[in-house]
Amino acid sequence: MKFSLDKFTNLATPFYYYDLSLLEANITELKKAANPEYVVHYALKANANNRILEVIKNNGIGSDCVSGNEVKKAVEVGFKSSEIAFAGVGKSDEEILVALQNDIFCFNSESGEEIKVINELAAKSGKIAQIALRINPNVHANTHKYITTGLEENKFGINLWELDSVMELLKACKNIKLLGIHFHIGSQINDLSNFKNLCTKVNEIQHWFEERNYKLEHINVGGGLGVDYHHPDENPVPDYKSYFEVFEKFLELRKNQKLHFELGRAIVAQCGSLISKVLYVKKGVNTSFVILDAGMTELIRPALYQSYHKIENISKVTSENQRYDVVGPICESSDCFGKAVMLPETIRGDLFAIRTTGAYGEVMASNYNLREKAKAIYSDELEF
Ligand code: LLP
Repeated sequence: MKFSLDKFTNLATPFYYYDLSLLEANITELKKAANPEYVVHYALKANANNRILEVIKNNGIGSDCVSGNEVKKAVEVGFKSSEIAFAGVGKSDEEILVALQNDIFCFNSESGEEIKVINELAAKSGKIAQIALRINPNVHANTHKYITTGLEENKFGINLWELDSVMELLKACKNIKLLGIHFHIGSQINDLSNFKNLCTKVNEIQHWFEERNYKLEHINVGGGLGVDYHHPDENPVPDYKSYFEVFEKFLELRKNQKLHFELGRAIVAQCGSLISKVLYVKKGVNTSFVILDAGMTELIRPALYQSYHKIENISKVTSENQRYDVVGPICESSDCFGKAVMLPETIRGDLFAIRTTGAYGEVMASNYNLREKAKAIYSDELEF
């Protein structure tokens, strides 16, 4: 990603910078790598910024929502209702009604209790709700524990031992049509063997359904493909080819059965950077602190998941020869973007780029300390 310092210099900081041509390039690679029969839904939760959504929608990708407002947003920006998947462990009645009114493609249903509510609301609305069962496959994702979702200890999905009773329940739900099964084992998964393990489990579960004569139109394997936070310039686009090959090789699809994906981070993470100005450089006991005007309010990932984001001083071209702790201005010690980061000698006024913030950056912003929401700036507004 190229940064033009003179274009950035007069802009108020901090801001989210989005390189839309990188986003386009990413989607081109995704489409090249995916079997044309695969159906990809973009997970809006990763970034629900209108310009980003427009690019994704214009490329013919479907959407995956986790709230009524995400469903509304997807419809508003022009994603086809017939391509909206709606997941979430706690869908409220209002949210379910929004989805029903919009005739979405499919609810990914997370419990028997929720299925009953969807059935009742669909009956009242005179609709048939299409659902997939979100099954908890008890497959490890080997990622941060806060973004692991496919283990029995997690709150997500229907456990395998509950399937019998849920299928019984479905027989009585006249306003529900079962389309398929859904899984999502976690996020930021770089070791593809985890997806291979998921495929093995899905194959077993598929047999379970077949033995009982249930036909499944689709299988949805969720999202989770990780990105390279350490080398954003060397690997600006994830290895989609290897990712899709795992499913091609190991997932046993039946004739006419569709395979769905719900990718978020992989599509949008690398096209975003958080641009921030150095307010002060302060000497500590064993270190020097670079205090930025961006903090955990603009990017909470380091504080919440101890996650790494590459940090660059984009005002300096000299070598990185000093060690700094790079922190934000918020009144929390967890408001730290990186410890012992090697940087060129840094002074007040330098501009910093915190890389790979296109996913789960702006969407997770807060106004803690009554801070203003940071703006988004797009590459095509700056004419490089
Ligand atoms: N489908 C479902 C059901 C999900 O729960 C998620 C993400 C996705 C798809 C998209 O996953 P992705 O392809 O982006 O990995 N805030 C955390 C990530 C939370 C992910 C939640 N679920 C972070 O900043 O790392």
